[in-house]
Amino acid sequence: MPLNKAVLSFLLVIASAVPVWGAQRSLSHDWAFKLGPVEGGERPETDDRDWRRVTVPHDFSIEDRPNASSPFDEGTPTGSASGYIPGGTAWYRRRLSLNADEAAGVVLLHFEAVYMDADIWVNGLHAGRHNYGYTAFQVDLTGLLKAGDNVVAVRVQHDDPSSRWYAGSGILRPVHLDLLDHVHLSRTGPAIATEIATEAIGEVGVSIPIANRSAQPVSVLLTTQVLDRSGREVDRHVQPVRVPAGATEAVARRIVIRRPHLWSIETPDLYTLVQQVTLGGRVIERRDTKFGVRTVAVDAERGFLLNGKRVLLRGGNIHHDNYMIGGAGAPRADERKIELMKAAGYNAVRNAHNPASKATLDAADRLGMLVINEAFDTWAVPKMPRDYARFFRSDWRADIDSLIATGRNHPSVVMWSIGNEIPEQDRPAGAARARELADHVRRRDPTRPVTAAVNKFGEPVAAFLAALDVSGYNYRPQDYRSDHQLHPGRVMYGSESYPADAFTSWRAVETMPWVIGDFVWTAVDYLGEASIGWTGYNADYTRLGPYPWHLAYCGEIDATGLLRPAAYYRGILWKTGKNPIAAFVRFPEPEGSLPDKNFYPASGRREWVQPDIHPSWTWRGHEGKPLQVVVYSELPEVELFLNGVSLGRRGVGVDTRYQTEFAVPYRAGKLEAVGYRDGKPVAHWVLETAGMPAAVRLTVDRSRISPDGSDLAYVTAELVDADGRTVYAREDDLELNVVVEGNGTLAGVGNGNPYKPESFTSGRRTTFNGRAVAAIRSGRTPGWIVVTARAKGLPTATVRIRAEGPE
Ligand code: GAL
Repeated sequence: MPLNKAVLSFLLVIASAVPVWGAQRSLSHDWAFKLGPVEGGERPETDDRDWRRVTVPHDFSIEDRPNASSPFDEGTPTGSASGYIPGGTAWYRRRLSLNADEAAGVVLLHFEAVYMDADIWVNGLHAGRHNYGYTAFQVDLTGLLKAGDNVVAVRVQHDDPSSRWYAGSGILRPVHLDLLDHVHLSRTGPAIATEIATEAIGEVGVSIPIANRSAQPVSVLLTTQVLDRSGREVDRHVQPVRVPAGATEAVARRIVIRRPHLWSIETPDLYTLVQQVTLGGRVIERRDTKFGVRTVAVDAERGFLLNGKRVLLRGGNIHHDNYMIGGAGAPRADERKIELMKAAGYNAVRNAHNPASKATLDAADRLGMLVINEAFDTWAVPKMPRDYARFFRSDWRADIDSLIATGRNHPSVVMWSIGNEIPEQDRPAGAARARELADHVRRRDPTRPVTAAVNKFGEPVAAFLAALDVSGYNYRPQDYRSDHQLHPGRVMYGSESYPADAFTSWRAVETMPWVIGDFVWTAVDYLGEASIGWTGYNADYTRLGPYPWHLAYCGEIDATGLLRPAAYYRGILWKTGKNPIAAFVRFPEPEGSLPDKNFYPASGRREWVQPDIHPSWTWRGHEGKPLQVVVYSELPEVELFLNGVSLGRRGVGVDTRYQTEFAVPYRAGKLEAVGYRDGKPVAHWVLETAGMPAAVRLTVDRSRISPDGSDLAYVTAELVDADGRTVYAREDDLELNVVVEGNGTLAGVGNGNPYKPESFTSGRRTTFNGRAVAAIRSGRTPGWIVVTARAKGLPTATVRIRAEGPE
């Protein structure tokens, strides 16, 4: 019988009268925000009623600067490194309403990341400070709270220049509150590690620390349960635990699972460890932690082994920014990046050069993506005046501990990286430091190899590399063979490689067992290091792209999520592409596709540059002139047709690097590349000439999102001609005005254009190659979200998104 409303509200009253310990309360909403220094910002009585209300994760740097129409500032001291977007100081304040039991309990305020130099006050008292902008930390508020309203204040101080890339500023990842009994599951646990993973048996070691912060010893019952992917119980155990007063007791267990569902790239099956604490007959806490049953091993003869089977790491580097929402690590944005990589054929990601967010790791666990989780870009020697080197000596242990505590239960994490291009790498002190860090990591987690990336080579870095289990080589595939002769036991991988070296780098992985993978710089484009992928870039750090360049432009997936030609080529090398053939057209004038090509003379070094080729057969004004058509194919024969007429058939393969080029006099119409296997046509790729823009086409990645006030839907706007063909020609680009109504708001719009300095948040954005992508944030009430895009002279386009589901 359905419960009537009166009974239901009675039950709710009873339920809320019993303190729910172990509760995690999200603090995403209702932060008051103010840019700039605030005198007395920490004091509870400070009037913040006129401060803006924001949702975190939040990046204030990506918003339009005060009295400006974009976030860009040509004069910012970080210059091209941050994409000409400055940092700054700001305050966040939030009320915490607690009942008397909650206020008297153990209360931990958990930040997943604040960039950077964060100070935290509660009710006017300084409660904590955290320096590193990428590590999770918690502030213990126990004893500082009262029943009723409390005020948390956070000051963020991001002084430039703090980073070699765009970092963003603010509370960049989620925040929550843990409301706990004085006896509780310690947040330093659980630690779950697979010891054996075969088809027949999985053995998992589990350690669950229980903290007792009361003045009395206690005896509790700890119930652990393991549920498989369908929620079926595969293990259950109840044991009494005595925890002395003021102490923490770790309970260790070994769980045996017969015929386990092993976690792998193809079948990323997860289990859940349920931990339940009972005190005096009452369940005081329950906590669920997901994990996977899988093992990782490496050696120079067999390479990288997942569950004993060799896997070649098809890797890509990513930075943390989410482009149109800046450095904000909105969980859906982080998840989407992993989805895009998975769809493009990557099976591994190096999180450069800082710990990955929880959302990134959750997505990697769920989708089957391997992760190298990296700690630092600098140790004691700085790369930028205000970077992490200021804190390294005092903070590194705590930051490594945070990296490991937040990452270790994720099956996706397969290696810990202790650093990238550490300046000390070729000095004895650097090697000693590497040993110290690596040993510290191994003590915390003996199950995963330790790595780091070097960019100096030969014997000067041998001692540094000897401290590691796996050696990351940045940009030196040519050394793999000779270094192997000198150091036969060394396990290597391309921790960074140039997109242009895709063939060579991947050949090495395919042919040398000691080279376990290759990670391109980068899989996804990012803000900052502006212009390194520009054809006019001069490889001299002081002369990176001039304003208004702001994207690196070296991503094989562009900043909006679109695959660039290099991603198709890689898919063909990896044989993971949805289509085993792809064709693109070289821009007719060398280096002509982007402006300022003569600003600095090209130096001849064009490392991160991708070929200037385009998925378009619309080249007005080039009629009759030859265009170069580049065809990538994993099939042994290709033939190109223009308007049904064959332009020749060619063999391709490893000798031609799986590509060939045709010179084709341009004539509007249909260009078709056909791939043959055993003489039979098995794959097609078509480019068609488009007319002028006649409409805006809107599509959405998910038409239903959660009304939790944080979820995102990504709406792609494309210019199309009267026949629905996408318009690519840059001269046809138009300014769009994106407006969001109903139960959602506009989080940001981007177009992937690396040099046009437009606002991300206003909704006004010019298309780039006929395209722009808007991130739409759900509101906190269910209902429709209506997104419209207008371009001058074209009909208004609309797409509707439904926000519904449990909060
Ligand atoms: C590497 C570095 C990366 C990035 C890249 C492109 O040397 O490790 O962080 O800076 O160069 O400039």
